[in-house]
Amino acid sequence: MTLRIAVLASGRGSNLQAIIDAIAAGTLDATLAGVYSDRRDAFALQRARDAGIPAHAVRPRDHADRAAHDAALFAAVDACVPDLIVCAGYMRLIGAPEVDARPGRMINIHPSLLPAFKGLHTHQQALDAGVAEHGASVHFVTADLDGGPVIAQAKVPVLPGDTADTLAARVLAREHPLLLETLRALAAGRVRLDEEGLHIDGQAGALPLQLGANNRFA
Ligand code: GAR
Repeated sequence: MTLRIAVLASGRGSNLQAIIDAIAAGTLDATLAGVYSDRRDAFALQRARDAGIPAHAVRPRDHADRAAHDAALFAAVDACVPDLIVCAGYMRLIGAPEVDARPGRMINIHPSLLPAFKGLHTHQQALDAGVAEHGASVHFVTADLDGGPVIAQAKVPVLPGDTADTLAARVLAREHPLLLETLRALAAGRVRLDEEGLHIDGQAGALPLQLGANNRFA
């Protein structure tokens, strides 16, 4: 099935670019139906326009409160009729009404091995905790911040002398193939979320898929 994707992004948009490039290269069977941001100056919107994808800014300051902003944003998203909504560096909380209205249709990429290091500054959190392994996760979005079922992860080592920046760069390099491989698994119907929880290859309660060195799931 050709997956019809909407992307939400607040900034740089390198994960969005990975999706754009994979579709162009024919390695991901998907269409980008629209890109949405809370910031008019998000570079992600420029990347979308450059690729001929409809790009929309829906700004919080133009709405009375978070609920009104969320409602306006998701009305715009719904208008492009996506199968899947991908939060790729979207840095605002999304309220429960919008999340709960789209069960199993929204995913997020987060720069840590969830459930470790939710929230912001995840690379510094990892350094402060002294962990030997760090990475990124893709999970279904639920009303529980960074707490939805984890679909897939990519691990990287923490090396002596790492700073938050060197660690962020090592993780980001794995985020792109992780997100693409997760999208392929979703498009292939390998992963779904229903009332009973996460199913991977038909198995309930499965552990997250792990990205191998070959950029495929093991
Ligand atoms: C990525 O590292 C992503 O995992 C992170 O923001 C960055 C966006 O980069 N997301 C979060 O921290 C969400 N809480 P990008 O704009 O270049 O794709």
